[in-house]
Amino acid sequence: MTKKNQLTKESGLSRRSFLKGVGLTSAGLAVTSGGEIFAEASGDASVKIISPGGATITLEVNGKKHQLKVEPRETLVEVLRDRLHLTGTKIGCDRGACGACTVIVDGKNVTSCLMLAIDAEGKSIETIEGLEKEGELHPVQKSFIEYDALQCGFCTPGMIMSSKNLLDHNPSPNLADVKHAVRGNLCRCGTYPKVFQAVLAASKQNKGE
Ligand code: FES
Ligand code: FES
Repeated sequence: MTKKNQLTKESGLSRRSFLKGVGLTSAGLAVTSGGEIFAEASGDASVKIISPGGATITLEVNGKKHQLKVEPRETLVEVLRDRLHLTGTKIGCDRGACGACTVIVDGKNVTSCLMLAIDAEGKSIETIEGLEKEGELHPVQKSFIEYDALQCGFCTPGMIMSSKNLLDHNPSPNLADVKHAVRGNLCRCGTYPKVFQAVLAASKQNKGE
């Protein structure tokens, strides 16, 4: 037995089974009129290949569903800002380094410049625009105003989303928890001390202290 055949036997993976697994056999591809291509051969509904023409997806943002056609290359932040006009979420570095684009997806902080919009389908997305309820700002937003926790404000939506998510999961954070929560949010104006103060104060307001 050749070395290649031996390796294939040991891994249990043949070229045929690999192609079948990723749904790339020609018989398994279906092309829709909208240019969307779905792989069916594997029988795995999660395997989906989209043509450059794009696909129609539904995004749930701040509790509201939006149906729109996106190209495979479009990031979540681009779709939020350019298509849904939710411009509160900012683009700083566009490469996952600054945190300006932070939103909450299924309860987790996500740098939306690194997430493709098609990957956000079926998930619950929260942006800064969704924090105000019936004209009332979220306690973290109020606290940022009260403690003057911003200067130019460019990092602020991302800072607030990270802080809000912290309080959702830990209503009584200490200073170390707050620093940890916003570690991915860079502030070129250096407002960190006031951000920490504001988040700690918001946690007290949340508890009614
Ligand atoms: S814009 Fe996404 S991390 Fe900087
Ligand atoms: S307030 Fe200016 S970058 Fe943070």
